[in-house]
Amino acid sequence: MHLHRYEKWWLTFGIGSLVLFLVIVGISAFHQGHQPPSSVKTINYEQIDKVAPFNEPGLRKVEGKDWDYELVVVASAFMYMPTEVEIPVGSTVKIIATTKDVVHGYGVAGTNINMMLEPGYVNEYVTTMDKTGEYLVVCNEYCGTGHHTMKMMYKVVDINE
Ligand code: CUA
Repeated sequence: MHLHRYEKWWLTFGIGSLVLFLVIVGISAFHQGHQPPSSVKTINYEQIDKVAPFNEPGLRKVEGKDWDYELVVVASAFMYMPTEVEIPVGSTVKIIATTKDVVHGYGVAGTNINMMLEPGYVNEYVTTMDKTGEYLVVCNEYCGTGHHTMKMMYKVVDINE
C-alpha cells in the first residue's frame, strides 16, 4: 500500500496527539488525583435521620481542620434542611450533602458549586465564600411535582459590620 507523504505526516500527527492527550489525562487522573468528587462515601439513605452528621443538618464551626465550617445539608422532596444559613465572609466551608429519597440537584447560583445528590451517596465539596451577598441554591435535577419550589439560601455576611 502506498501512502502519500502528507498522509503519513497527518497520520503521525493524529496518532501522536491521541497518545499525548491520553498521557495527559492519565497523569491528571492517577498522579495528580483529579477524580470526580462525588459518590465516594456511601450511606443508608433510609437511616439518614439517625446517622451523624445528617441527624443535625446545619452550619457548624469546626477546629483543627483545613476548613472553618461544615455545612451539613439533607435534601428531600421538596426541600433542603437547613433552608437558610449565614456564613461569615472569607470563611472556608465544607459542604456535606446527601438526599433522603430521590436524585436532587444542588446548584449554588453565582458560584461553581453544582452537585448531583444521589440516594445512598454523600457529596462533599470545600469552597471559600469570599464575596458577601445572598446566594440562591436551587435543585437542578427534576425530582417531582414540587421540583421548582426546592431552594435554599446562603447569606454571606461580614460579621464585623
Ligand atoms: Cu429536588 Cu428537583
